[in-house]
Amino acid sequence: MKYMGSKRAMLTNGLGHLIEEKTKDRRRFVDLFCGSGAVSSFVAQRTELPVLASDLQKYATTLTEAVICRTKGFDLQKVHDVWYREASNWIHEDPAFLKEVLALGQQPTNGPESIEWIGRTRVIAELSSPRYPITRAYGGYYYSIQQALAIDALRATVNKKNRATKLAALISAASSCAAAPGHTAQPFSTTETSLPHLLNAWRKDVFLETTQALNKLSTTWAKVRGEVKQKNALDVTENLNDGDLVFVDPPYSEVQYSRFYHVLETVVTGKAITAEGSGRYPPITQRPQSAFCLLTKSIDEFDRLMLGIAAQGAHSIVTFPAGVASNGLSGEIVEALSAQYFKVKKREVASVFSTLGGNKSNRNARQGTNELILYLVPI
Ligand SMILES: C[S@@+](CC[C@H](N)C(=O)[O-])C[C@H]1O[C@@H](n2cnc3c(N)ncnc32)[C@H](O)[C@@H]1O
Repeated sequence: MKYMGSKRAMLTNGLGHLIEEKTKDRRRFVDLFCGSGAVSSFVAQRTELPVLASDLQKYATTLTEAVICRTKGFDLQKVHDVWYREASNWIHEDPAFLKEVLALGQQPTNGPESIEWIGRTRVIAELSSPRYPITRAYGGYYYSIQQALAIDALRATVNKKNRATKLAALISAASSCAAAPGHTAQPFSTTETSLPHLLNAWRKDVFLETTQALNKLSTTWAKVRGEVKQKNALDVTENLNDGDLVFVDPPYSEVQYSRFYHVLETVVTGKAITAEGSGRYPPITQRPQSAFCLLTKSIDEFDRLMLGIAAQGAHSIVTFPAGVASNGLSGEIVEALSAQYFKVKKREVASVFSTLGGNKSNRNARQGTNELILYLVPI
């Protein structure tokens, strides 16, 4: 899955080797900002260490849980057949709504007709019952009404068996179908230039995308069962110990992740939201806010975090863009703060990072950069 700040590419560019080498004498791997789960999954598949992964957001811990908390594969056909049959039955339990959706007909191919048709789908979606949280909040925007209904149906029929795996597959499908540029801060609009992108995204098949994600997950599991926590990183440091290798990959943007990934959070929680603004976000009080994304707090927060890790005697690997980031932290500051509590070994690798739209001087979504990798042992 595309994820802002994912370390997937860096794992093949020095970071993977360093982690493999430094986990050798450790008893546990802890990933405090697990995001897409790329790093936790890497460690869980390659080492005999249990992995503890945490993040503020539930979609992130669920994506990670799907791999690190499962120690064997699963029967893809069986999961798929039973789940999809239940989802289809769920849709048919409300024939009146299904009739309304079907009456909208196929997506028109020309511009003006499409715009009128999109308007009608938005009205139907917005007036749908709370049984359909995704349809109500995002139907006619990030998703066609049919896609939104499919996501609602799959979400409503996720049962206990392989729960995290199914939810992770659905999160991946929701991410790849979303009519938005890589994140869900704002859906594509209906202007002449954006409309083709919107309609293309709406043609994607949610069931097929979910199957593809399940397929990938069915070949991926942990050697040793791990655990996940949806928690502030600082709180997780309280229960670290001197056998831990703690991976620290904090936000580098002043824009909150919860603003960019609220759709995935709604998919995983399945709770209805009141959509606000052009991004159709839930109200700010319902979106986790990270002090790492606040210019006024990020430095103190990072300082406290590193002190917390060092106080428990744990080793650490920190990654951060070498230059100045929009949240007020920089490679230099991260290194200086870490050096107060740890012996530091530094490497720098070429990387690409996303600005999350939060970099005021350059609005390019992805920029070439150098990324610091610090290996830290407490003083
Ligand atoms: C740079 S991303 C991590 C990317 C991840 N390493 C990967 O490979 O996908 C930063 C993550 O930190 C999470 N986050 C932000 N503030 C946090 C906090 N105070 N505690 C825990 N997680 C936080 C965000 O939700 C986001 O997923």
